[in-house]
Amino acid sequence: MDMDLENRLVSTDYLPEDDGDNPLRPRSLREYIGQEKVKENLSVYIDAAKMRREALDHVLLYGPPGLGKTTLAAIIANELGVNFRITSGPALERPGDLAALLTNLEEGDVLFIDEIHRLPRTVEEILYPAMEDFTIDIINGKGQGAASIHLPLQKFTLIGATTRAGQLSAPLRDRFGVILRLELYTPEELSRIVSRSAKILEVPCDPEGALEVATRSRGTPRLANRLLKRVRDFALMLNDGVIDRATASHALDRMEVDALGLDMVDRRMLEAMIRHYNGGPVGLDTLAAVIGEEAITIEDVYEPYLMQIGFLTRTPRGRVVLPAAYAHLGLEPHGQTMF
Ligand SMILES: Nc1ncnc2c1ncn2[C@@H]1O[C@H](COP(=O)(O)OP(=O)(O)O)[C@@H](O)[C@H]1O
Ligand SMILES: [Mg+2]
Repeated sequence: MDMDLENRLVSTDYLPEDDGDNPLRPRSLREYIGQEKVKENLSVYIDAAKMRREALDHVLLYGPPGLGKTTLAAIIANELGVNFRITSGPALERPGDLAALLTNLEEGDVLFIDEIHRLPRTVEEILYPAMEDFTIDIINGKGQGAASIHLPLQKFTLIGATTRAGQLSAPLRDRFGVILRLELYTPEELSRIVSRSAKILEVPCDPEGALEVATRSRGTPRLANRLLKRVRDFALMLNDGVIDRATASHALDRMEVDALGLDMVDRRMLEAMIRHYNGGPVGLDTLAAVIGEEAITIEDVYEPYLMQIGFLTRTPRGRVVLPAAYAHLGLEPHGQTMF
């Protein structure tokens, strides 16, 4: 039942495109498309911190994968004109790992912790005084001779990113002065992102071609860029390299990404809910078992978009398929095929 991971279009895994020299990554707030409210507020906070010559308050960014959290964190450091240090919750195994990073920060630096909800408890506890008072306590030595050393730190900005703000402990969440939620992008915003990326990749792409890719990208810039690269290959074979609406739509059909951006997993999930569970409510764990995905992947990756386009809703008793999804899949209630 599992699809080949390499060919999965929707994925939470670390991808090579995430590395530092990805040319598609915007470097400034001006280049960062969409998320207007977030950008407006951030630019006020950044300008104010610069005027006061102080470190920016700690920032928590949350939202589904691929919406631009890592990109935005790097932009914040860039706009502040400070160093950007990057790590992640799972990479910080012991308190010493975090202490080493913290003690090496220069004044005003940004420390970015990706997947901050996955910080081990013992590491998280070091972070509290570091965020609040810019100090850490480290234990030096072992057993009887062990001594606790109290170290002052440079004033720094912590930026945390998470797909699940609800999973952060209250003491950690409360220590962020700025909490920003990234939203799925509209097709119009995504088509600006696709056009920008096409220009950088030097692929001719007309506005309708860009909109076609955008409409099928589930509100997610990472996916838009990934689809654009594949569509580019089809365009080279079929249309002298030019991406227009017909080429984009042909290519995306071939990749089994449908007109609304649903892939095989989305369709299988919705169809199973309709055919076997009368459209729901279906519990998350049941759903996970039925389609062979982890519950967390369903919540973080599949559901946000299906909810945004009005195909699925959450109720206290489980997930329910909405009428728009039946129409899109050509299924009647109870799972009979229409026509
Ligand atoms: N607002 C944006 N404008 C243009 N491109 C974006 C934007 N947000 C994200 N991207 C592109 O999408 C990719 C994924 O973004 P990333 O910051 O890695 O997402 P996240 O950290 O939320 O998973 C980036 O490489 C970047 O090229
Ligand atoms: Mg990221």
